[in-house]
Amino acid sequence: MQLRRDTAAAAAVVLSLVVVLLPCATEAHNITRILAKFPEFSTFNHYLTVTHLADEINRRETITVCAVDNAGMSDLLGKHLSIYSIKNVLSFHVLLDYFGAKKLHQITNGTALAATMFQATGSASGSSGFVNITDQRGGKVGFGPEENGGTLDANFVKSLQEIPYNISVIQISKILPSATAEAPTPEPSQMNITSLMSAHGCKAFADTLLTSAAMTTFEDSIDGGLTVFCPMDDAFKAFLPKYKNLTVAGKQSLLEFHGVPVYESLSMLKSSNGVMNTLATDGASKFDFTVQNDGEDVTLKTRLVTAKITGTLIDKQPVVIFTIDKVLLPKELFKGALSPAPAPAPEAEAPKSSKKKKQKSPPAPADTPADSPSEDPADQPADLNGVERFNGQRFVAVSLSAWVLSFLLL
Ligand SMILES: *[C@@H]1O[C@H](CO)[C@@H](O)[C@H](O)[C@H]1NC(C)=O
Ligand SMILES: *[C@@H]1O[C@H](CO)[C@@H](O)[C@H](O)[C@H]1NC(C)=O
Ligand SMILES: *[C@@H]1O[C@H](CO)[C@@H](O)[C@H](O)[C@H]1NC(C)=O
Ligand SMILES: *[C@@H]1O[C@H](CO)[C@@H](O)[C@H](O)[C@H]1NC(C)=O
Ligand SMILES: *[C@@H]1O[C@H](CO)[C@@H](O)[C@H](O)[C@H]1NC(C)=O
Ligand SMILES: *[C@@H]1O[C@H](CO)[C@@H](O)[C@H](O)[C@H]1NC(C)=O
Repeated sequence: MQLRRDTAAAAAVVLSLVVVLLPCATEAHNITRILAKFPEFSTFNHYLTVTHLADEINRRETITVCAVDNAGMSDLLGKHLSIYSIKNVLSFHVLLDYFGAKKLHQITNGTALAATMFQATGSASGSSGFVNITDQRGGKVGFGPEENGGTLDANFVKSLQEIPYNISVIQISKILPSATAEAPTPEPSQMNITSLMSAHGCKAFADTLLTSAAMTTFEDSIDGGLTVFCPMDDAFKAFLPKYKNLTVAGKQSLLEFHGVPVYESLSMLKSSNGVMNTLATDGASKFDFTVQNDGEDVTLKTRLVTAKITGTLIDKQPVVIFTIDKVLLPKELFKGALSPAPAPAPEAEAPKSSKKKKQKSPPAPADTPADSPSEDPADQPADLNGVERFNGQRFVAVSLSAWVLSFLLL
């Protein structure tokens, strides 16, 4: 009896450890935590966080972060660049390959060009965005932007942490001076989001937005952070007859339903699924949707439609615009399509809605007759039984706990 108790207790401990550790298993590394152990890199670490580069670094594998200490960072900050240019400069210090101390001293032929995250984001032009790494005489390893024609301004100082071959964090002696990365980036409020959309396959949505008061809501959000989910032209054109049937307020809400008043990069969306408020959200009528990973895809679900993110049209913090394959239909406007008698959605809820709420334009009465549910397969009600609320991690935890419990009761 005693033995069985002990075994059961041990099993319970092991299993609860498994449950506790499960959510971490997907996170291979955390650059913020790694650098937090080195106070002399606190400025570099701080700027990785405020530029959201930390999320991007954590998401990638086989990566090298070339950190500079606080003295090196004060040289950069002394240039009074905008936060967007600082982001470009720092992304130039993230190499898309693994260089531990050993590999740096064993580079084939003594020299290599490393692609950087700056180059990978498409902000760099031509051949800029690569870093020349050269193993010099006397064991010194030099680093320099390729655009500077072989001038190696910075040196390898030491290795801070190596997790082969996921992430290597090394110190280099100073910031790599790249005129391309430091170039001024347009202020977000000068960004013309509709012309960007029009130029990238979302002209129908952009043209419609320009005719609506919703445009002001989008523009007002740009400086504080804005994520837009733009239906591609085919999808939006097919939807136009239904759009025209909406009231003026309904039209505005429909358009605002495609914007979120915070910056959410793709990696942020991937790592934080749940309910998301929109520019149309207003206490009374909720106008929210659920973000959910589906394999490598990110989907947006209302009770009427599941749209998939098909591409990133632009990602320049604080603005990011994605393309989606379907028009998002809020149930508040199209509830007629929900019949017959939808099962009540369980309200046990995902974590992320509260702080998303920001502003609201006039309420949108759902008073227009909604159309018949069956004419467009893309608009068919999806997941009316609450499956959309499914939370994989919680499910694993719950089933394991149940298992432990049954074990203990043996
Ligand atoms: C490296 O990343 C992979 C995938 O994220 C992970 O499974 C593995 O445990 C990581 N390796 C180390 C040593 O952390
Ligand atoms: C990384 O670590 C920092 C500091 O410990 C923590 O605040 C942050 O939430 C972590 N990020 C992730 C994605 O776990
Ligand atoms: C190393 O140098 C040799 C001879 O110059 C060349 O053939 C080879 O491609 C180089 N290897 C790399 C990886 O650059
Ligand atoms: C890197 O710069 C050095 C000069 O400092 C040059 O000799 C070398 O060829 C460059 N490496 C590459 C791969 O372009
Ligand atoms: C943005 O470009 C569109 C044309 O696509 C134009 O009609 C609109 O006035 C521009 N908006 C601003 C704020 O410049
Ligand atoms: C628009 O509304 C009318 C009247 O309510 C309806 O007959 C028609 O089918 C609707 N058209 C579309 C495209 O939804």
